Amino acid sequence: MTLRRRLLVAAAVLAVVAVVAGSAVVVVQRAFLVGRLDAEIAALAQNPRAVLLASQRAEGAVATAALSDVYVGRMTADGRLTTVLAPQDDPDLVPALGPGEQVPTPEGRATEAGTAQRVRVVTVTLPNGRAQAVIAVPTTPADVATRRLAVTLGLTGLVAAVLVGLLLWWVDRLGLRPIAAMTEAAGAITAGDTARRVPPGPPGTEAARLGEALNTMIDTTTATNERMRRFVADASHELRTPLTTVGGYAALHAARPAGPLDTAGRAEVDDAMRRIGDEAGRMRRLVDGLLDLTGLESPDALRREAVDLAAVLRDVASDLRVVAPDRVVTLEAPASLVIDADHDRVTQAVVGLTSNAVRHTPAGTPVALRLHTVPGWVRIEVSDAGPGIPAEHLPHLLERFYRVDRSRSSGSGGSGLGLAVVDAVARAHGGAVSVASTPGVGTTFVLDLPDRPA
Ligand SMILES: Nc1ncnc2c1ncn2[C@@H]1O[C@H](COP(=O)(O)OP(=O)(O)OP(=O)(O)O)[C@@H](O)[C@H]1O
Ligand SMILES: [Mg+2]
Repeated sequence: MTLRRRLLVAAAVLAVVAVVAGSAVVVVQRAFLVGRLDAEIAALAQNPRAVLLASQRAEGAVATAALSDVYVGRMTADGRLTTVLAPQDDPDLVPALGPGEQVPTPEGRATEAGTAQRVRVVTVTLPNGRAQAVIAVPTTPADVATRRLAVTLGLTGLVAAVLVGLLLWWVDRLGLRPIAAMTEAAGAITAGDTARRVPPGPPGTEAARLGEALNTMIDTTTATNERMRRFVADASHELRTPLTTVGGYAALHAARPAGPLDTAGRAEVDDAMRRIGDEAGRMRRLVDGLLDLTGLESPDALRREAVDLAAVLRDVASDLRVVAPDRVVTLEAPASLVIDADHDRVTQAVVGLTSNAVRHTPAGTPVALRLHTVPGWVRIEVSDAGPGIPAEHLPHLLERFYRVDRSRSSGSGGSGLGLAVVDAVARAHGGAVSVASTPGVGTTFVLDLPDRPA
């Protein structure tokens, strides 16, 4: 059952209970008032002779206080009822009684004349046994009081019902209706309307906070899905080029006439095999890069240990001097700087930066490595004095598959994943990568790692 329906049922039950309780109060109150009237006439009936005498005396004169609202009559044996005394404010009152009817205990009766609608009446046989005294009292005061009580209770109930109704409306508007709208929107989003967002609830309510949280969650999920989709599309696209090349050489080979190869044919096949090998290498590097990126996203990606960054940079620099003997490689670092990090990942990141500095700058361009600390961080800088990178590319360099000059870089075998991996290593350590480049002056990549003592 929905919360809204539950609230409605609760309100209905409350209304029924209130009506029943109010009616019970009215009935009990009326019974109490009538009981008082009965007690009054029953007391008078104790002594009928005295009542008749007092009434006869009171007739014409001012009735005594005890008899001012009472009807006293005398019914003879043949059933004729004569009024001895009528109530002051209803002088024509006559209770309706059958001829000779006896009413030993007080009962309700209609009237034959007078303004009162009903009376409580009791009859008592006079001591001589030939006639009866009839004592009656109009129920008008009890009726008026009961009606007034009923009207008061009814009005109070009505006001309460209106207030409860307003309260329900308020709860519904602030809490329930927004939730229903959100459910509807969530359904539409699930059904494929991804641009849809849940409507914001009334400000400052739980519904508003829920709506905000839902929208944030949907935004995050949508962004993640979109990233995933682009990533798969990009990776497939990148793999397609080498696959096409490999497929092309295989087709070329299949189209050759059968039979032994001459020298030229031999050289052609060798060349095809070399190109196929190159492309296979490219695909392997691509897949390695993708695996690195995925691996670095998992929470336990790092094997942390005490790493001497100065030693790492010394090793990278001397490797670089060997693979690129034409470069002047300078290193500026303290004798030792140990932090808590993953040795292999940090080395991989620094190598990624230095290999870029070699690969994407003209031969002979100097490369400088620097290691120092800034408060809270250790900073590794890899600078080159190359042609630099145009400013519009800088914000995208860390993206997967991003290459400044697509044709040239892919020709040089770059996959465009190197800097994305460097960035992933930095993030896994809680650090960051940044780049500054001045065209014509050179490029500096900065890798900041938290200065976590080992
Ligand atoms: N030091 C640099 N000087 C000039 N351009 C650079 C430099 N470093 C990176 N780039 C540019 O940034 C692009 C992205 O570099 P990234 O390392 O991500 O990919 P890549 O080197 O092309 O391929 P790989 O995945 O093999 O590293 C490069 O293609 C290059 O255009
Ligand atoms: Mg690279």
